[in-house]
Amino acid sequence: MEHTISITSHTDRTVTDTRSLPFGKIPTEHMFIAEYSNGKWNDARITPFQNLTLSPIALCLHYGQTVFEGMKAFVMEDGRINVFRIDKHHLRFTKSLERMCMPPVPKQLFIDAIHNLVKLDSDWVPKDEDGSLYIRPFMIATEERIGVKIAEEYLFMIVCSPAFKYYTKPLNVKVETEYVRAAEGGTGMAKCGGNYGGAFYPTNKAQQEGFDQVLWTDAKTHELIEESGTMNAMFFIDGKLVTPALSGSILDGVTRDSLIIIAREKGIVVEERQLSYKELVAAFESGKQVEAFGAGTAAVVAPIATITIEGTKYTCYTEDDANMYRLREWLLEIRKGIVPDTHNWNYII
Ligand code: COI
Repeated sequence: MEHTISITSHTDRTVTDTRSLPFGKIPTEHMFIAEYSNGKWNDARITPFQNLTLSPIALCLHYGQTVFEGMKAFVMEDGRINVFRIDKHHLRFTKSLERMCMPPVPKQLFIDAIHNLVKLDSDWVPKDEDGSLYIRPFMIATEERIGVKIAEEYLFMIVCSPAFKYYTKPLNVKVETEYVRAAEGGTGMAKCGGNYGGAFYPTNKAQQEGFDQVLWTDAKTHELIEESGTMNAMFFIDGKLVTPALSGSILDGVTRDSLIIIAREKGIVVEERQLSYKELVAAFESGKQVEAFGAGTAAVVAPIATITIEGTKYTCYTEDDANMYRLREWLLEIRKGIVPDTHNWNYII
């Protein structure tokens, strides 16, 4: 499908160093926006970052038709800018949109929008080793109607923000056995706003108990590990990389997928399968070395320091020679262009 993107640029804001600010606090200078009506995308444009005008009866404000993505751009060693795994993110966006009865965004429009936006705001991509530009494509239902229905009008937008470490220290988590994030057949595999809103209450409760995050378990047995907070949950148990298999209630994380591929290439045994918290207890109690971490675009590899299971706190291995740090390093080397990108994961701007 043909599309053109008009660009209105302005220069009155300068690059802000957001290193000391909370993640995602300051957007870059520009944003992308396109409007969907009558079955097609119209008026694709890049404008200065600005507020929206939305009817109070826009359907997204009532019935939750909102879907988003999270991706990153990096400055490579040779100075070029790379957007990591743009195809995989587009594919996941498409699947999420389908699950929420929202219209797909043509791949070329998605790529061209990100290309033009990141190019225009390229001064905002941090050059530091732990820095990147977080890119947030998202869609909302804008049709004006109080009645419950699938919207026929939408906005697709992209905003960006410089990003550094999402978590600054290893996390203390608790295995959540009362509340669930998602059930099989639900929307767990979709990156829709409601999944995050629904997680706030149990996460907030866990934080009041002194934890940083929860380790979600499945809705049926409350024993099988699913995700950790806003990340996929991954473990090294006795040197093997173990992670819950995708089940429909777990997000198909791009970082998770990349780490699995890299680990296999490096000769690490990877097991994607069901993982009961009882197996973790047995591993801890038999003295096995257990590493645990969250994997996500924003968090990259977020080490977990302790896991509390049914009131007992177990300590994970987080020393400097832990396997998870090697995995993180290998991923970084690809993104930074230090080693060849044999999978075509880097989209060069
Ligand atoms: C991401 O890692 O991109 C996420 O979506 C997690 C969070 C920032 C919502």
